[in-house]
Amino acid sequence: MEQTVSRRDAEAYELFMGRWSRPVADRFLDWLRAPTGADWVDVGSGTGVLVAAILDRSAPRDLLAVDASDAFTDYARHRFSDPRLRIEQGDALQLPLAPQSRDVAVSGLFVNTVTPMQNLLSEMRRVLRPGGLLGFYVWDYPSGGMGMLDAFWQAAGGIDAGAVELSERHRFAECDFAGLDRACRAAGLEPAIGLIDTVSEHEDFEAYWRPFTQAESPAKRYLDGLDPAGRAELRGALAQRLDHGGPIRLPARAWCVKAVLPQG
Ligand SMILES: C[S@@+](CC[C@H](N)C(=O)[O-])C[C@H]1O[C@@H](n2cnc3c(N)ncnc32)[C@H](O)[C@@H]1O
Repeated sequence: MEQTVSRRDAEAYELFMGRWSRPVADRFLDWLRAPTGADWVDVGSGTGVLVAAILDRSAPRDLLAVDASDAFTDYARHRFSDPRLRIEQGDALQLPLAPQSRDVAVSGLFVNTVTPMQNLLSEMRRVLRPGGLLGFYVWDYPSGGMGMLDAFWQAAGGIDAGAVELSERHRFAECDFAGLDRACRAAGLEPAIGLIDTVSEHEDFEAYWRPFTQAESPAKRYLDGLDPAGRAELRGALAQRLDHGGPIRLPARAWCVKAVLPQG
């Protein structure tokens, strides 16, 4: 039973976010230009979106994926059978790695959730060898760059002013150029920062709406707290904004960040 629930959670994540995360992961790796044959760690690896991209594109020698969630690590273990990959359930702030044991440390859509971000960046830095490469990407929340979520909270905020505080735009205000630069410098890193612009395309309004009701997220918790009339009102407000009878295309824009450690 537990296994079924785990699988359902992971599949719901894939539908809600993983499918938009993958195109960003591909573009991020092209931008990162990591050396081939390197030892990698992917922090907050989830269902394995960035793991899949690394295995497909970056020819790692070895890849350790670390995530706190049992459900996601189980799902990822069933998803991959690549001898270069090891998946461990663990805390990103205490990586199961010796200091200076990796060439590349990366993270997708996770760094912003750790407060302060510099704590996670320092831990990623700890495990890198001299000359190692640290890289990550986060949605450009403050300017509405994760349009799928932003539309939800804009509609919710139009009905209930209290919802605004729950929005990623509000909670992750540090996900802009200045905030990311500051966090990196606080962790002793000199970052290069870029933007990756992609689009999320939902075939119709129902395909946009359904994942909000299924995948564990702040939006789902908000919906679960509404009564049926409140849910219907929010759905109607969103449909008014987005449902024009065809596919719904929204921005899916991420900041990408990288820093090379000094040699020795
Ligand atoms: C938004 S998901 C990103 C997953 C994946 N990297 C992607 O791009 O789709 C964030 C992940 O961080 C994990 N996470 C949250 N807190 C963590 C912690 N303290 N240590 C390790 N992983 C954590 C969650 O379980 C989740 O899988």
